[in-house]
Amino acid sequence: VDFNKVLDERFSCRGFLDKPVSLDQVRAMAVQAQKVPSWGNTQPWRLYAVGGAKAEAVRENLVTAMQAGRPQAPDITMPASFEGELMDRYRDLGRGLFKLLGIGREDHNKRAAHYANNFNAFGAPCLLYITVPRGQTSYVALDAGAFVAGLCLAAASQGLASCILAALARYPDEVRKVAPIPKEEAIIIGVALGYPDPEAQANSFRSQRLELEQVLTSFDL
Ligand SMILES: Cc1cc2nc3c(=O)[nH]c(=O)nc-3n(C[C@H](O)[C@H](O)[C@H](O)COP(=O)(O)O)c2cc1C
Repeated sequence: VDFNKVLDERFSCRGFLDKPVSLDQVRAMAVQAQKVPSWGNTQPWRLYAVGGAKAEAVRENLVTAMQAGRPQAPDITMPASFEGELMDRYRDLGRGLFKLLGIGREDHNKRAAHYANNFNAFGAPCLLYITVPRGQTSYVALDAGAFVAGLCLAAASQGLASCILAALARYPDEVRKVAPIPKEEAIIIGVALGYPDPEAQANSFRSQRLELEQVLTSFDL
């Protein structure tokens, strides 16, 4: 498959079909993602795939915890908010998505329902959890990030859709009640995986990127 096509086809899917993903598909993704580089080839990532009734149970636990207002306790500190232009872009993403979904500023019920849907992994039949060992420097996040990107691109190359979801990692205790991920490892992120629902309006949303001039500076090139 053409690499550019895969890059173009990956997007954050926010509406999944009730159609299972097989272990073979996840294995193929993991084999591909394993090819990403890591510091000193340390490969600090571990991957846990949760499907079937267990994925449903995790999603249910997470939604329940969120709706009960339980304090979030991710294994790795998450940003409470962003600063400056990062915050601008974070807000732009929410505004763009809500506009497409026809959710107004004052529509608190629909906003809350969308937020809850994050914890429901947008109905994904398979949840991927990526962990890193505890007690390392924050550089392990760089390696894990490369692995996660590899997974999402591998998913796209197989015709699967994904969404990296911080929401899936905000209540790790609830995850471990169903999927006993070792406590010695820190859950760094979750990924929703499945087939995209063509009827889900959110799936027609595409996020924007900065102009190249804002990203790239060259010296003597
Ligand atoms: C670390 C991380 C956490 C994310 N958490 C969420 C989330 O909780 N909810 C969500 O809808 N999208 C989440 N996303 C997806 C981003 O919003 C998305 O990648 C970004 O807007 C770019 O859009 P694209 O993936 O469609 O290209 C997350 C992405 C990353 C990398």
